[in-house]
Amino acid sequence: MAPTRDQVIDALRPVQDPELHRSIVDIGMVREVRIADGRVDVQVALTVPGCPLRNEIQSRVSGAVKALDGVRDVGVDFTVMTDAEREELRIKLHGSPGDTAGQGQAHGHAEGRKIPFAEPGSKTRPLLIASGKGGVGKSSVTTNLAVALAQRGHSVGVIDADVYGFSIPRMLGTDRDPTIIDQMILPPEQWGVRCISMGYFVPDGQAVIWRGPMLHKALEQFLTDVYWDEPEFLLIDMPPGTGDIALSLSQYLPRGEVYVITTPQPAAQKVARLSAAMAEKVHLDVKGVIENMSWFTGDDGKRYEIFGAGGGRALADELGVPLLGQIPLLTPLREGGDNGRPITAVDPESEVAGSFRAIAERIAVELRPKKVFNPQLTIR
Ligand SMILES: Nc1ncnc2c1ncn2[C@@H]1O[C@H](COP(=O)(O)OP(=O)(O)OP(=O)(O)O)[C@@H](O)[C@H]1O
Ligand SMILES: [Mg+2]
Repeated sequence: MAPTRDQVIDALRPVQDPELHRSIVDIGMVREVRIADGRVDVQVALTVPGCPLRNEIQSRVSGAVKALDGVRDVGVDFTVMTDAEREELRIKLHGSPGDTAGQGQAHGHAEGRKIPFAEPGSKTRPLLIASGKGGVGKSSVTTNLAVALAQRGHSVGVIDADVYGFSIPRMLGTDRDPTIIDQMILPPEQWGVRCISMGYFVPDGQAVIWRGPMLHKALEQFLTDVYWDEPEFLLIDMPPGTGDIALSLSQYLPRGEVYVITTPQPAAQKVARLSAAMAEKVHLDVKGVIENMSWFTGDDGKRYEIFGAGGGRALADELGVPLLGQIPLLTPLREGGDNGRPITAVDPESEVAGSFRAIAERIAVELRPKKVFNPQLTIR
């Protein structure tokens, strides 16, 4: 016997929009359902025209309906939400700026919105990946650590705060532009990690010159206009140095945890110490050190300490925080970064993927904040 309309709707309830991670029924994407002679036709309203995930939605819908008894054939056709429907959806998912209007200064569209990650009830841990020096592997570590956290089953977002030298979209392989629903930005997702970067908003090959207030505003929009949907971890790939961006972020993310990346030689350690001093200046705690480029294993199986040894340990001891791990120099790690296939994602059995997962576990478990601030428990 052919299913009823209600049965078709029930079968579609568990189907999620791949970008919004919400039931397509709940967010009003399922429109007409026609049932005749064992054939079911479903009309789905896409959030935006030319939705890149249209094929994925089509196969999810038809798979779910085909699984019903009495269905011989399934047809899926598409329409697109109207502006008014998109606005309604955005308000449903993300609220109105007015709802969360704070005392913050007006900054473009983010006007009046509060930073969700600064709220007392936020369940997101912002992890700021920093170093006083360029080229030590902040972006590579951010990328692989994010993937390792996602592999542990956590929800993970990444903000590429390196507005001049953005590299996360390339390293993570999220080169698809974000979908924008009524000014709500959906971060592209790859390997279970969502990401936003200035790279999406700058035409290829153009240099960006940002002055302080513009930087401030761009970062604020990354935090407020992007639909992060309360991830457990929000990793921030910090630009090298200790300028405006660090200061802005510390205001926006008062509970940010700083992780310092360093290479093993004492000189790098000295620069990395600067970023610890920066963390202190902006009142954020350094929670751990990760040493990168620790050694290279030759074809002879021997470990060569190209950049010296002991820098990570010495820095961690000096800061009184744990050395969370040491990452060797590895050609496939560099290649994975160059072509958007992070080694932790594509070769999860490799030793280095194991190292990233071990660091992820220490951050998730050992370094989990102990004191949970509960606004109901204040002493009057
Ligand atoms: N462990 C490693 N093994 C091999 N190559 C690595 C390793 N870590 C980083 N690299 C490579 O070194 C270069 C610099 O790394 P990355 O871009 O991650 O550093 P960064 O600190 O983010 O740099 P910047 O300061 O420019 O943002 C990249 O080409 C990257 O692929
Ligand atoms: Mg970088």
